[in-house]
Amino acid sequence: MADKSTNVIAFLNGLLADASVLARKLKHYHWNVRGRDFFTLHAAFEQMYTKWSGWYDALAERIVALGGRPLPTLKAELESTTLQEDSSYPDAATMVQRLLVDLEGVVQCVARAQTGSEQVGDRTTVNLLDEIADGIADASWKLKAYHA
Ligand SMILES: [Fe+2]
Repeated sequence: MADKSTNVIAFLNGLLADASVLARKLKHYHWNVRGRDFFTLHAAFEQMYTKWSGWYDALAERIVALGGRPLPTLKAELESTTLQEDSSYPDAATMVQRLLVDLEGVVQCVARAQTGSEQVGDRTTVNLLDEIADGIADASWKLKAYHA
């Protein structure tokens, strides 16, 4: 089982790292957004955070179910993620733009993980990744509408 799932576990740990960085960034933006869109974005970032923290847990538990070990530390996550933390305090429009860039990157990682999971017939992982991809698509059109 470990052999068949080795690649899937590696993909899932990469996404676990991305989810961790994204969830933390969403809290940062939730707390630090300023300006006339404060109430809207403060709430929207919290909703997105709730989704990502749920997927963070679901990805880790899927890794365990497959016989793998979820990354143990924030340091390991930072070494494995494709995303950048944001140590600045950007304006609201920049926050939205940066999240869109992050989501575009993560959705490609999700697609690669889906392909890897399909190759070994792992429907349970494909279903989880479908849910995440749908969630990203939903968040992306809403964030794009903010800029329209
Ligand atoms: Fe809050």
